[in-house]
Amino acid sequence: MGSNDGHRLPEADAQLPGASGVDGTPAETVGTLAGAAFPAARAGAASPAWPAHYRRIERVPLVGENASLAELLRPFVAAETPVIVERTAVMDVERWSEMSHLRGLLGDKRVLVKRSPSCFFRYYDLKKNAGRFGFEAPLEESSRTLASFLEEADGILERGSPERMYLQETLSGHEEMADEFSRWRWELLVQASASLGWGLPDSNELFVGMRDCETPLHFDERENLFFQVRGRKQICLFPFCEYTRLYPFPTTHPCDRQSMVGNPLCPDHEAFPRFAEAVGFYEELNAGDLLYLPYGWWHWLRNDDHLAVSVSFWSKTPDADLKNGIPATFTEHMLTRVRRNLEHIVAQRYGAEALAANMAALGEAIRAAREGDTHPKQDLLQMVMDLLAVVKVPAERHHEFLLEMIDGRFDIDWQRHVPGSGLAA
Ligand code: OGA
Ligand code: FE
Repeated sequence: MGSNDGHRLPEADAQLPGASGVDGTPAETVGTLAGAAFPAARAGAASPAWPAHYRRIERVPLVGENASLAELLRPFVAAETPVIVERTAVMDVERWSEMSHLRGLLGDKRVLVKRSPSCFFRYYDLKKNAGRFGFEAPLEESSRTLASFLEEADGILERGSPERMYLQETLSGHEEMADEFSRWRWELLVQASASLGWGLPDSNELFVGMRDCETPLHFDERENLFFQVRGRKQICLFPFCEYTRLYPFPTTHPCDRQSMVGNPLCPDHEAFPRFAEAVGFYEELNAGDLLYLPYGWWHWLRNDDHLAVSVSFWSKTPDADLKNGIPATFTEHMLTRVRRNLEHIVAQRYGAEALAANMAALGEAIRAAREGDTHPKQDLLQMVMDLLAVVKVPAERHHEFLLEMIDGRFDIDWQRHVPGSGLAA
């Protein structure tokens, strides 16, 4: 989830697997390891019942010898819309269908394993607690061998314990996987990235999750080509521009970029009323599916099979090009970035620790102004309205633009929403 320093692209021009016979057929049987067999799916595992106004993510197969992933993706990239590309064979899902393959690659190597008392794996970064929020970490991280992870994961299921483990390891630097990397279809990914105007795919993460493990709603400031290697994953995405309906934690909180809603299947409607209006995009990923997850799109993911495996390929996008001056109109995407920048500016000018109090006070100042009253934070209100004028938000929209990014986010018990919806003590 986006720590990006020190990642190295493993041999981009390496030898490719060629005809591997992989056709993206879903793996039917997964989850045999250490002698213990688990059913491919949870008993009665069903696709979630999403609200009627949600939409299914489009699926498109990559067909033909010289088919170009870049050309297939181009209209979706232009429209900032996700798509699932079938039959890319980025990795050989046949080889990966048996856990013995990964065990052979990394069995005695140490990997990052997160352990949660529940199925929920909230991402956080303690170094980013500029706001000095009272924060209790919702999970533990440890470095352990892949073999011991697999053994312990089985043990947890056998005991019927509610706790879960989720392996999330950055792949750059794993020299022992050089031969495996050389079989991946880097040429497809690198050509797509270059041709679509992104940086090279410069950071990869391997995800191996126990059955039911969930990654809460969050967004990454990257383009992501996300390959499902083994087992099934339910996904639900929301456009970047749904920012205000997803109630992000304050930018100065360790859970920056995370939605306080957490789980779109059981939102706290009382705390987050605007979430009901957000339009989600859902699908079930099967082995062989490549998801294009556009910059900033919110994502929630759930492993429906024990030891489902995914690999993300993240690429940078160039910063908005302002060399021709301020554009005539700002897109919704740009205005969403403006919302985050505005928060950064208030934190910088008036103190990171005071951000939440200042934003809440800003809301009060707006309500006072609407009543024709003055408020002690008048200067703060004027400063942010001047900023909004620069990005051409019409004056009559200023109050609403600000209230929708303030209400429900700054005058709240944040920790209550860290473990995940419905999980708070
Ligand atoms: C990602 C991501 C989480 C998961 O690839 O950006 O958040 O559970 N993945 O796969
Ligand atoms: Fe992510």
